[in-house]
Amino acid sequence: MGINKKKILVTGGTGYIGSHTVVELQNAGFEVVIVDNLSNSNADVVDRITKITGQKPSFYKEDCLNKVGIEKIFANEGKIDGIIHFAAKKAVNESVQQPLLYYRNNILSLVYLLETMQQFGVQNIVFSSSCTVYGQPDKLPVTETAPIKTATSPYGNTKQMCEEIIHDAAVADANLNGILLRYFNPIGAHPSALIGELPNGVPMNLVPFITQTAAGIRPELKVFGDDYSTPDGSCIRDYINVVDLAKAHVVALNRMIEKKNKQQVECFNIGTGRGLSVLELIKTFQEVNELTLPYKIVGRREGDIEQIWADPTYANEELGWKAVESIEDTLRSAWKWQKQLENN
Ligand code: UD1
Repeated sequence: MGINKKKILVTGGTGYIGSHTVVELQNAGFEVVIVDNLSNSNADVVDRITKITGQKPSFYKEDCLNKVGIEKIFANEGKIDGIIHFAAKKAVNESVQQPLLYYRNNILSLVYLLETMQQFGVQNIVFSSSCTVYGQPDKLPVTETAPIKTATSPYGNTKQMCEEIIHDAAVADANLNGILLRYFNPIGAHPSALIGELPNGVPMNLVPFITQTAAGIRPELKVFGDDYSTPDGSCIRDYINVVDLAKAHVVALNRMIEKKNKQQVECFNIGTGRGLSVLELIKTFQEVNELTLPYKIVGRREGDIEQIWADPTYANEELGWKAVESIEDTLRSAWKWQKQLENN
């Protein structure tokens, strides 16, 4: 099967962003190997991906902290053309409560992966970074040259540290190429509604909380603060469609495989360039889905950044990637996904 296909190993490939990326990789002609410990996802995602693309990705239930297990997968799979490393913990609050868990999980898994890549001669890695590395930027929209600010949580710190680890590893290994994708706020779901975000317990992120409230699972949405220095007083973010985001990974991998990267390690902002306030997002969600969302304004959430949105020019021009989905369609897809969950 797939004699000429390039093979990509995706850690965290059954997760929210991972699953959408596997679909786009397969659509672009890659053969995909998923490694996931299923700590925050289900194995049936593999079947759902298969339903969308008509191709079954290989799947290994394995933890990236099990280095021997990961080595076995590399040995078993033969030539691997690139890695996308999604597998990581991502809850800001939890990271403050359990910092060592975050450092062990997020840092060690990357170190093991880079070591294994070197052992097996795998040269290309795409890393899931975050706009959180910019903190509250001095200038908006934020470009990739903005200074990295002191992290406000262990989670944010692991993203900064992982970026540095990849930089340092590349200095010492001329064969290693890395692309760091700094995601803004991924939302929405695949248009098929076969895959989407599946938060564990009470959602921390805005859009899953909105869709669960609209579905009646939560009584009301709490808007964290309307006294910020923004036009309507609520926080501003750059909400990016998850399928657009997934496609950025495909472009990034092709760039390294075709050796078009200008530096061994490059980083790109993956956002739309459009800042939207929490209140604007709620209004749009209600309008496009023709429903009323119960919400109330409460106090600020500790650690929240007031406003951030991307300058995606460098990604648009140098990477040749651009977000194309509208916020309206994206919020429709989020609601469609939530509704089908109730029927399952
Ligand atoms: C933050 C990080 C992001 C990280 C993510 C992980 C920044 C700029 N972003 O996203 O890098 O990957 O955490 O979870 O640091 N909100 C409400 N009510 C809710 C939930 C959220 O009003 O019930 C508001 C928040 O105050 C915020 C916005 O919605 O203004 C988005 O929040 P959320 O979805 O949690 O994402 P970030 O905090 O931006």
